[in-house]
Amino acid sequence: MSETILVTGGTGFIGSHATVVLQQAGYRVLILDNLCNSAISVLDAIAEITGQRPDFVQGDVRDRQALDALFRSRAISAVLHFAGLKAVGESTQKPLDYYDNNVHGSTTLLAAMRQAGVRTFVFSSSATVYGDPQKLPLTEDHPRSATNPYGHTKLVVEDMLENLYRSEPGWRIARLRYFNPVGAHPSGLIGEAPQGVPNNLMPYVAQVATGRRPRLQVYGNDYDTPDGTGVRDYIHVMDLALGHVAALRRCQQAGQEMLTVNLGTGVGYSVLDMVKAFEQASGKAVAYDIAPRRPGDIAACWADTELAFQTLGWRATKDIREMCEDAWRWEAMQAARAG
Ligand code: NAD
Ligand code: WQD
Repeated sequence: MSETILVTGGTGFIGSHATVVLQQAGYRVLILDNLCNSAISVLDAIAEITGQRPDFVQGDVRDRQALDALFRSRAISAVLHFAGLKAVGESTQKPLDYYDNNVHGSTTLLAAMRQAGVRTFVFSSSATVYGDPQKLPLTEDHPRSATNPYGHTKLVVEDMLENLYRSEPGWRIARLRYFNPVGAHPSGLIGEAPQGVPNNLMPYVAQVATGRRPRLQVYGNDYDTPDGTGVRDYIHVMDLALGHVAALRRCQQAGQEMLTVNLGTGVGYSVLDMVKAFEQASGKAVAYDIAPRRPGDIAACWADTELAFQTLGWRATKDIREMCEDAWRWEAMQAARAG
């Protein structure tokens, strides 16, 4: 009988890919998602990819009663916690929603886990906790800071997890700091489906390539980078998903564990590099204008990946060609479905 992993936010972008690789690694997956930023049809797509439909409960991580019922009804051995809100700009408009979903959601979930005796927890943190990098590549001991409410919620949960780990024995916790997740499952059946105008570069580029949006605005070409545009560490979402399985296994093997690792590739690409790579992968032109810098943006950011390799034996293997090809397949298939 395989183990059951609770995946909160499992119909979302990263959680759906993690569900696929967990199932392929032999785990049973139970998804809890309130569908505020994802669609129920993702379950059919996962079933088509893996041949197995994950169990699904529509519910909210802030609903303690629902969580208690969930832990009573199933033998859950670990939790991967993806559920939360993630739009930096929106977090400055609606800070309370962000603290409520991301912080209160995490405390409620952890309290329910504690009561149920489930103490293995993998948390979606972010490279945003490094603030404006003082040196590159970013190592996990780089000082942390936040310039927006979203980033603050990640800092608070990271600290809460550290406090919890120290408070009693037996917790096995991984804090995974993602860099810039992009791409999609190579089948084109699941991917990133932002509501409204995309905030992030790759989905925007993809929508320009399909003709859904006329032009990309490149936010600044006067940064201290090789071509003046912002540089980021883009990581294929399938590599990211595999990093979760590696972290889960490491936690499960330990008596107790507190892991904090970067999940990135260690390589930085500029906005214009990504535009070019996407044009090559799609065979479509991506029209763009140079626009003013976006407030709050940093010039450059990429990961030191050594600790992830040493502790998890995990490295990203997919390059920007695959990221763009897979993102394009997903976008083109979606555009075809929409007619
Ligand atoms: P996403 O919005 O696609 O997925 C999040 C899922 O959580 C959605 O399906 C949404 O419906 C669900 N959800 C939100 N609030 C909930 C709640 N209160 N109860 C139950 N379900 C809820 O986002 P994603 O890109 O897959 O991100 C997953 C996690 O990774 C988030 O915690 C995010 O902060 C973190 N992260 C994302 C990125 C990124 O660039 N995508 C980078 C670093 C960290
Ligand atoms: C990438 C580059 C932009 C859009 C954000 C969050 C971070 C993390 C990942 C969750 C930058 C440029 C973008 C556009 C552009 N999320 N750009 N035109 O800002 O690195 O990180 O997502 O934790 O916390 O802040 O990602 O994809 O928005 O931007 O020129 O229309 O593309 O200026 O240089 P970012 P991004």
